Amino acid sequence: MAIRPILTAPDPRLKAVSTDVEKVDGEIRKLAQDMADSMYAADGIGLAAVQIGVPKRIIVMDLDQKEGKKDWRAFINPKITWASEDLAVYEEGCLSVPEIYDDVERPARIRAEYLDLDGKKIEIEADGMLATCLQHEMDHLEGVLFIDHLSKLKRAMLLKKLTKAKKLAEA
Ligand code: NI
Repeated sequence: MAIRPILTAPDPRLKAVSTDVEKVDGEIRKLAQDMADSMYAADGIGLAAVQIGVPKRIIVMDLDQKEGKKDWRAFINPKITWASEDLAVYEEGCLSVPEIYDDVERPARIRAEYLDLDGKKIEIEADGMLATCLQHEMDHLEGVLFIDHLSKLKRAMLLKKLTKAKKLAEA
């Protein structure tokens, strides 16, 4: 178990495009465990490997955290195979964009495939929070943050706020 520091915007490493995992082995399982530990330590519900500075296509998620029960799952090399035309709006936040929340519109339902921690291919259909979170986390694999979906003006304002907060924290 290892808790790793989570990068925050505007760290340029968050813009990296992650590469496919070639083989789901012990090393990848250990990385996923570290990601889950880091996610729980930061009170998050999802985390992409790039957020701890490892640009590999791995996501961990636990949307249903109750009574300290840790029931996370990993999505390796995830791909969206279908997205609904109807959209849904959720207020999103991100461990890499601390203390900022805003509405983002995305397809309401998706189908996706990914590998689990045994390297087994899984296909799922998702809606609601799972659909939103998967799309949010998969954006990270392309170097995209949820604030990139907002208007240019709003994003610039939020980034200014983040940079200021970072400077204060370092002072
Ligand atoms: Ni995020």
